Amino acid sequence: MLILGIETSCDETAVGIVEDGRSLRANAIASQAAMHAAHGGVVPELASRQHIRDMEPTLRRALADAGATLEDIDVVAVTHGPGLAGALISGVNTAKSLALTLDVPLVGVNHLEGHVYAAWLVPGDASPAEEPGFPLACLVASGGHTDLILMEGHGEYRLVGRTRDDAAGEAFDKAARVLGLGFPGGPEIQKAAASLADFSEDGEPFTEAATPLPRAWMRDTFDFSFSGVKTALLHRAQDVGLYPQPEAANSDADLLVAHLAYQFQESLVDVMTAKLLDMADRYKARGLVLGGGVTANARLRQRVLADSPVPAIIPAPVLCTDNGAMIAAGAFYQMQRDEVADMALDVDPSLPFGVPL
Ligand code: KG4
Ligand code: ZN
Repeated sequence: MLILGIETSCDETAVGIVEDGRSLRANAIASQAAMHAAHGGVVPELASRQHIRDMEPTLRRALADAGATLEDIDVVAVTHGPGLAGALISGVNTAKSLALTLDVPLVGVNHLEGHVYAAWLVPGDASPAEEPGFPLACLVASGGHTDLILMEGHGEYRLVGRTRDDAAGEAFDKAARVLGLGFPGGPEIQKAAASLADFSEDGEPFTEAATPLPRAWMRDTFDFSFSGVKTALLHRAQDVGLYPQPEAANSDADLLVAHLAYQFQESLVDVMTAKLLDMADRYKARGLVLGGGVTANARLRQRVLADSPVPAIIPAPVLCTDNGAMIAAGAFYQMQRDEVADMALDVDPSLPFGVPL
């Protein structure tokens, strides 16, 4: 079964093609990041309009990469929430038109469920490994969510923990802005943190910059909070003369930025890793799954792999950030449960995911 998945919930116009839920045949992505970078964040109106322009060429690219034509497509799947309303509408309308014209089923997929199913994808030329056993402890960390989900079977999700304020990706994006780095902030913070290794031991006099930032452990809950460390970073940046802009006399600004980016990343990675592993232990998970843009973070991936006592499935970075293949993968398992949409499918910008415990 060949499923075409469309994703337009934020600033990526993405079309993926997946065979039988797991085999990746195409994953075409048109990113708007450079356009939004000029504004320091995603501008919803601009995002909606750019999706309209990018959809047709991205669709053609996905079909060409898969060596397929529209007539080969058995199901059309699309993200219908959560996300930006205007952006979602663009994908949903395209999906409806395609499903109607091709006379094939239409499946509406929750964006966060898609992030989980990226873990099921394998390269088109590989034979799928065994399916991971349930229950799975999943961390879905993106620009809008930081959720700990216990997946008890296909389509069975319990929401064990969530952020009470900023999402991890949002915190990375805001931290990058404070440090004068670009958008999206996650990859920029990662790069700046890694650059610390390029500086010599001269970095040592900056003891204040090199001091760990706080961790919001929030004892006795699997919930997260990232606004405190964000504020702590802002104060630290002011104290060392980096904010609101680097002081003219501050010739060591790059080194200070590297220190602060490193400390900020360590704080978030520490808490996310510890809570995910605690949750896996508490619920006797047989494996871990990472999904969402923040899980493209190299330090988080390294820590989870190093510390996890159970197998961890960590998709390639390009499958952690928004893509259409993950939507097609999720739709395959919805098809098994007859969860098919009709032409009344609407977008839901705040579509919930997982049943609270
Ligand atoms: O899942 P995603 O692509 O889009 C949403 O659903 O929001 O996640 C985007 C978020 C952004 O906040 C971005 O800064 C963050 O993921 N991100 C990262 C990395 N790559 C993307 N955060 C930390 N480290 C990265 N390498
Ligand atoms: Zn996402």
